[in-house]
Amino acid sequence: MDRFSSIDFDRLTQADLVYLLGLKGEEQKKLIEKANEVKLKSVGNIVYLRGLIEYSNVCAKNCYYCGIRRDNTADSKYVLTHDEVLSCAEYAYNKGFGSLAIQSGEISNPNFVNTVESFLKEIKLKTNDGLGVTLSMGEQSEEVFKRWLDAGAHRYLLRIETSNRELYKKLHPNDNLHNFDNRVNTLKLLQKVGYNTGSGVMIGLPFQTLEDLANDLLFLKEIDVDMVGMGPYVEHAKTPLYKYKNELLPIHERFELSINMVACLRLLMPNINIAATTAMQAIVKNGREQAIIAGANVIMPNITPLKYRENYLLYKDKPGTKEQIEDSIESLTKSIEGVGHSIGFNERGDSLHFKIRNKISD
Ligand code: 5AD
Ligand code: SF4
Repeated sequence: MDRFSSIDFDRLTQADLVYLLGLKGEEQKKLIEKANEVKLKSVGNIVYLRGLIEYSNVCAKNCYYCGIRRDNTADSKYVLTHDEVLSCAEYAYNKGFGSLAIQSGEISNPNFVNTVESFLKEIKLKTNDGLGVTLSMGEQSEEVFKRWLDAGAHRYLLRIETSNRELYKKLHPNDNLHNFDNRVNTLKLLQKVGYNTGSGVMIGLPFQTLEDLANDLLFLKEIDVDMVGMGPYVEHAKTPLYKYKNELLPIHERFELSINMVACLRLLMPNINIAATTAMQAIVKNGREQAIIAGANVIMPNITPLKYRENYLLYKDKPGTKEQIEDSIESLTKSIEGVGHSIGFNERGDSLHFKIRNKISD
């Protein structure tokens, strides 16, 4: 029996994952087929939409890889107005997106917290509580998480970035604001407060090994996340980590590795939500569709007002900075149908894993 056929997919070990992550060509196809099969059996072929609002590029943190880090003053800083957020939300609601994902740099002053709380309340009101809302606004206190949950957010995404604490230290300044343990504890706090909790990692970072990535997958399983957004690391010239650009895997290998990560995660956690992330589309034109075939079931079309897009450059060549929404709804529907899936219009598309974890029935 060859190595692939001898794997017990219900009990994947670190060694199995390292092997699977390294697959290429025909063997990679087998992995992808297996992951798609597991996905269809557990969560079906519906792809859910999250209208992505990049609320603000102001960030108090200084992560070494990120284009909107505090010390990067090259791009102009912006915060959407209350009305702009509301009109994005109404747009998403009217188009049947079912959910929003609102993202920003990490800020925790009272003014920021109040502003977010107030637009969350109004989104709920204006859309008859008909939109799912995911927030991704970094580490906050328990009190803030509770207030935002009460105001109408019910999912929260906080990427661990890497589960290797030594690597985490190389990617972040060594201070209280960028502390690995705090980040892990904040993920647990989100679960305790009651959010559908998401996390994720970057793939193809300098110094990162296949063992690290296998451990990332096992970490996500161990924490028991409900949803994951992960994608390739894409270097940004105006960041400190750029100096390692010659030590990275070629960008297409980072993409293939990301596809294998999605597939392996689907095998490990069959009923979670997995996003086909923007960074995958940044590298390969049909990257999003490829991610769906490999196990993803969520896509996040950018609906941020166009004038702000080129200031939310986490990495270079980020797509969608020039188009109105990256695709028309028609072409999006077509391309998803082209890979044997259909879009869950007007559905919030909560993670089945969360429902089971909390014994919620439909
Ligand atoms: N390449 C890929 N992803 C990045 N992020 C930040 N910088 C980069 C980069 N250079 C991701 C991080 C962060 C999210 C907001 O964007 O994972 O959590
Ligand atoms: Fe801020 Fe997030 Fe970028 Fe870090 S990755 S600098 S927390 S926006």
